[in-house]
This record gives sequence, C-alpha cells and structure tokens, in this order.
Amino acid sequence: MVSKTRGVTGEPEDPNGASAPRRRIVTALLGGGVLGSLAAFAYPVLRYLVPPPVVDLGGDEVVAGKVGDIKPSGSKIFRFGTRPALLLMTADGEYRALSAVCTHLGCTVQYRSDLHEIWCACHNGMYDLNGRNISGPPPRPLEAFQVHVRGGEIVVSRKREA
Ligand code: FES
Repeated sequence: MVSKTRGVTGEPEDPNGASAPRRRIVTALLGGGVLGSLAAFAYPVLRYLVPPPVVDLGGDEVVAGKVGDIKPSGSKIFRFGTRPALLLMTADGEYRALSAVCTHLGCTVQYRSDLHEIWCACHNGMYDLNGRNISGPPPRPLEAFQVHVRGGEIVVSRKREA
C-alpha cells in the first residue's frame, strides 16, 4: 500500500514531490498554452473565411487615363478615390473599369490577357470581365464602374442606381 505524505500546506504530495496546487498551476499553464496554440491557428483561418466589409471608394469620378494609353487586351491600375481600380480594354476595343480590390481579403487584382479574366494572385481568385466572381474564394463580384471618353480622356465614374 502506498502512503501519501503531506506537504507544508497540508496538501497531499505525489511520489514525484509535486503538490496539488503546483499540479493545478502546471495544468492551467499547459491548458492555456494549448488554447493559445488553437487560437493562433484558428484566427488566420477565420480571417480567410470571413471577408472584410466593403469599404466605400471615395470620389465619384476620376480621369483614369488618355485614349491610347492602353491597347486592346491591355490594362492599367489607377486610383479611384483612396482605392485602386482596374481599367482594361477588351480584345474588341471596349473599355471596362472595375474596382481592383479583391472581395475576398482585399488584394489588388490584375487583368490576365492570356486568360481574358481578372485574377487575384493572393488565393487564385478569378473574375470575368464584368467583375463576376467565377472561381476561387472571392464571395462577391468586383464593383463595376461606368467608362466615358471625353475629349481624349477616359473618365470613370460610379454607376448610379436608377
Ligand atoms: S484576396 Fe483571396 S482571392 Fe483575392
């Protein structure tokens, strides 16, 4: 039969010499370490799965460039308010302007002329040339803008709700 000895505080000691309060402290520290590790893994996964809220772009109209700046199947990034936007010319010579902020986690998208699609390099998200999210993690389409050519300038403005 194993006899239990008592420590200074009257708590029973185990054969290795650790008292019950000490064991509780070690258990709590280990438990806290495990919870901290789980949180460190869970937070990035949650940030990946839950996209940030849509942020207003600011200004209503901006000159994105001059006619002739981009050729068919070409593109450029320009500032629309405080955020980047994408101006592209389709192979048919039509201008399109979209927000360049990926709706997943906010990376800047780019036009892939080889695929005729808009691509987000961060997590391989794909949008069509109308900004619709077609594959990968993006949960929403890109905001599409109106494009006008005025006096040799390419003017991009927000679409007005009718
Ligand atoms: S930020 Fe994840 S796909 Fe664009």
